[in-house]
Amino acid sequence: MEKEELVELAKQARKLSYSPYSHFAVGAVVECKDGSTYQGANIENSSYPLCMCAERNAIYNAMMHGQTRDDFVAMALTADTDGPCSPCGACRQVLSELFPSDAPIYMSNLHGDIQETNTTELLPFAFNGDDL
Ligand code: THU
Repeated sequence: MEKEELVELAKQARKLSYSPYSHFAVGAVVECKDGSTYQGANIENSSYPLCMCAERNAIYNAMMHGQTRDDFVAMALTADTDGPCSPCGACRQVLSELFPSDAPIYMSNLHGDIQETNTTELLPFAFNGDDL
């Protein structure tokens, strides 16, 4: 799938964001080898630490449909930011475990900016299960 199409799916997902506290809506989508896509948006809570990011919801949505790390080929995320929206630290840790290190992650915004990265760039020297 073209990166622009993935970003469009992330924008659609963003519309489902529940973010009455931050008013910062984020959308994300994961593309799988079989062509399927799984969307996520940030879902907030009055108990702030319980807020869940769009990227993790997209990954968990895919996994709850039977997809695994080996099935993921790309991700896109988007928000109303000046530059491409960048994943938070918690999502970087989760992505480093559950998303292939060489698969493209397209950070984007609502103004057409798209920047490609991957989990190695986002979280160098990541802690992982091998260290346990
Ligand atoms: N948020 C995401 O969904 N993804 C990110 O990468 C950055 C932050 C959400 C969490 C919270 O609901 C709101 O944006 C403000 O931090």
